[in-house]
Amino acid sequence: MLIGIPREPEALVSATPDTVAKLIKLGYDVVVESGAGERSNYPDSQYDEAGANIVGDDVWRADIITALDTPTAEQRAAMKPGAALLARLAPGRNEDLIAEFAAKNITSLAMDAVPRISRAQSMDVLSSQANIAGYRAVIEAANTFGRLFTGQVTAAGKVPPAVVYVIGAGVAGLAAIGTANSMGAIVKATDLRPETAEQVESMGAEFVAIEAETEKSEDGYAKEMTADQAQAAAQLYAQQSAAADIVITTANIPGRKSPVLLTAKDVAAMKPGSVIVDMAAANGGNCELTVPGQVTITDNGVSIIGYTDLAGRLPAQASQLYGQNVVNLLKLMTPEKNGQLVFDLNDEIVRGITVTKASTAILATAERGEDAGSPVAHDTADILWPPPPVKVSAAPTTLRKDATTSPEAEAAEAASEEVKKKSKAWMFAAGLLGILLILVSPMQVAGEYMLLMLAIVVGFYVITAVTHKLHTPLMSETNAISGIILVGAILQVGSSNVIVAGLSFLAIVVASINIFGGFFVTRRMLTMFDGGN
Ligand code: NAI
Repeated sequence: MLIGIPREPEALVSATPDTVAKLIKLGYDVVVESGAGERSNYPDSQYDEAGANIVGDDVWRADIITALDTPTAEQRAAMKPGAALLARLAPGRNEDLIAEFAAKNITSLAMDAVPRISRAQSMDVLSSQANIAGYRAVIEAANTFGRLFTGQVTAAGKVPPAVVYVIGAGVAGLAAIGTANSMGAIVKATDLRPETAEQVESMGAEFVAIEAETEKSEDGYAKEMTADQAQAAAQLYAQQSAAADIVITTANIPGRKSPVLLTAKDVAAMKPGSVIVDMAAANGGNCELTVPGQVTITDNGVSIIGYTDLAGRLPAQASQLYGQNVVNLLKLMTPEKNGQLVFDLNDEIVRGITVTKASTAILATAERGEDAGSPVAHDTADILWPPPPVKVSAAPTTLRKDATTSPEAEAAEAASEEVKKKSKAWMFAAGLLGILLILVSPMQVAGEYMLLMLAIVVGFYVITAVTHKLHTPLMSETNAISGIILVGAILQVGSSNVIVAGLSFLAIVVASINIFGGFFVTRRMLTMFDGGN
């Protein structure tokens, strides 16, 4: 099948020379509209080298078009009936567009509707673009702010660090927090989802909670606020923004206009010279005074940045990540790597993104076992929007105590308490055994046993206090220690003292489990990451 990469109205492009080569590896032929990657620093010659053909606007006659956003009416009209379009289509807000695709018998796949499940992360264009946009938001803010982010003590006096307040700690918010933190600012953040507190803190920022009960999210998206929450949140946002130098807002509710979180009154109370970056500008904005696409300066000297193309301001990398998301999706839909799109509606990712499905199929329908180019049954596409909901939690398993807990969560907590109790009992028994060993052991090794016991106790408390997220680096440390133990135990295993020989043998077994287990787990993790290449 032939994939077409059109020239976009903005600097971004839906495939780079690198991702074109990957599409060709999947068995597809690729045509690229001349100049498509020019503004992202990917000249036509690089696409040509990667194996694509450079064409004019007949790129729209390809079997599959990958684009960034909904093409213009003229471009849509140029598409072949039965062809497929992959782009950010915002299907929840575009009923007319869906009807048009159905009437024209076009298969439309919404790249912005990839379900929020772990398996789909590598295909999620919202995440990859939000990550870049979050970074760029801080750069734009720093540029407009015109003062240092980091605090300094110099011979000429002290410079305080900038205070950055981020509202909404999703992908973009966390990227902004990380960037502002690395530039030396004091960073604070708030989110409606209480489960983000841990993520905010792990990025080095302070989580400022809303003083009203908020619910854990079941699908990674925030829910609309209740009146209580809205009032508490409004007070908090006004108070924090007045104290901050930079406010970055990222709050979105899917399928709806963004909530207004900063009113004109809140902005009027902010310090002169402070900056608001409204990352929800394209969707209506989180600040009442935002003008989409523009920078507004208020009477009291607050700059409000409403750029809607933050990711597009770093086009080379944003295009590469978008293109890689497309490759990952097409990998899923091209299981034979033969350049034929297989349309398996039992797969929740494929089902989730399918808005309309052409009946003339250039698409081989997995469930019916049809081949590509099978006869036309009727000449309009089926509307498959909206897809059935996919219930997933983007929340970490450990919930904050103040959040509403389900019976399942309570049962899990009780079970984990039980495990903790049991492990304490085991520790106590091991301690007793240790003391017994010291008492019965010969004088010359008693000191070493004592040291061993102390090491076990200290080791137990150190390891159990380390958060799960840090277990991988911890594992590499313990692997190194296990290596030393292994060498020592091999030297001692031949001892004539039965206790020493027995303990050495035990040490060899345990240290080997740790070392080989470590390699096994690392290998599994590397295979997980390998998916994107
Ligand atoms: P988003 O763009 O929908 O919203 C941004 C953030 O604003 C969210 O954290 C939301 O809770 C927050 N927010 C909304 N209204 C708010 C309000 N009034 N006040 C304060 N905060 C408000 O979210 P995004 O960035 O796309 O991701 C949300 C979650 O979904 C994250 O935990 C992310 O890790 C997860 N996710 C998972 C994916 C996967 O597993 N494939 C893919 C994408 C996201």
